[in-house]
Amino acid sequence: MKLLRNCAQLITCANADDKPKCGAEQARLEFVANGAMVFDNQRIVWVGRESDLPESYRHLPTVDVIDCRGQIVTPGLVDPHTHPVFAATREDEFYMRNAGKTYMEIAEAGGGIRNSARRLRAADPDSLYSLGMRFLDRMLKSGTTTAEAKSGYGLSTHTEIKSLEVIQRLDADHAIDLVPTFLGAHEFPDEYRQHRNGYIDLLVNEMIPEVARRKLAKYCDIFTEAGVFDIEQSRRVMSAAKAHGFELKFHADELKSIGGAELAAELGAVSADHLVYVSDTGIQKMAAAGTIAVLLPATTFFLGHREYAPARKLIAAGVPVAIATDFNPGSSCTTSLPAAMTVAAIYLKMSPEEILIAVTFNSACAIGVQKQVGSLQAGKYADFVIWEAENYKQLPYFFAQNPVAAVYKRGRQVV
Ligand code: NIG
Ligand code: FE
Repeated sequence: MKLLRNCAQLITCANADDKPKCGAEQARLEFVANGAMVFDNQRIVWVGRESDLPESYRHLPTVDVIDCRGQIVTPGLVDPHTHPVFAATREDEFYMRNAGKTYMEIAEAGGGIRNSARRLRAADPDSLYSLGMRFLDRMLKSGTTTAEAKSGYGLSTHTEIKSLEVIQRLDADHAIDLVPTFLGAHEFPDEYRQHRNGYIDLLVNEMIPEVARRKLAKYCDIFTEAGVFDIEQSRRVMSAAKAHGFELKFHADELKSIGGAELAAELGAVSADHLVYVSDTGIQKMAAAGTIAVLLPATTFFLGHREYAPARKLIAAGVPVAIATDFNPGSSCTTSLPAAMTVAAIYLKMSPEEILIAVTFNSACAIGVQKQVGSLQAGKYADFVIWEAENYKQLPYFFAQNPVAAVYKRGRQVV
């Protein structure tokens, strides 16, 4: 039995049901001033005001008492969109973009995702694992205790399976819990550029069935974008994925509006991500279908683009919003959700309350783990972060400072 006490604010993000928060609800952040929390066997047993602490928890041995010294506590952050398995970084492309080339120009010239695919195909699993571990360590130090992790830099059956097996090992060995996503439809590999429907056939007839048979992923994702997978190709791939039991996610409307959000809603996807150019119809359809918007403002920032996803419109329409890092070597090389939170405040114009919900409870909903994590409530895992801050409004405001004081995963201190 352990007691966490003396928390200026214990941000619980408590929710009465398991549904993501939307509209005005997303701004209703639950927290306890002068809070305390008791946990045992990895799970939370009591949360409340310290003055209400039940007598039975008042006399625990001092080694079992964690004094927050007036700092604040949040649930462990949940990052619902990351690409952590790659063989090499791509800093040259970052400078090419800064010198005037666009993301798509670099991709069409053979860089981008295909650059990463060539490197990953040649890499052995152990080196992918070691690099992945290093970046997961950085994520954990920034307060992330659960993350979604995508394959998508192999683009062939055996290299996608190799990537998903690396994700499985990372999940087993690292403190961060990973939820695996198959992203074989991330790009058309070099050998299928001239007959793209051949790659769609491979995805539908071989890759999706094989990943399903091996139970290597919970979600199937696709890069639905002008110049990558068009709407009809996306519909074929994702309908097959659904038929094989995958839940669906989409990279949708990131660079152009082609109807990715509409398709995500139509197929009952759990989330549509990016959404910089989502149409009004797409927003309406997402709201009606209950599709979560996973926004990736760090990507827009890192690509140096001016236009950000219409977060205010999405929230006003009743679409629940989550925020992720999109950590990857191309378009968003950050492992820090707090960095994404700052960008969300400045450019998505989200309030601190909305942002806190977007990186905890709503992001847990976006990867289906809200029954276990994403809020501090009795019965859930004791995954929490102690921050060197006096109140939660300082979290997006402390810019690139990483004010993490300590991280606990399932009741064990890991940072
Ligand atoms: O979410 N947009 C597509 N996929 C990634 C980028 C991957 C890459 O450039 O390596 C993203 O931004
Ligand atoms: Fe992504």
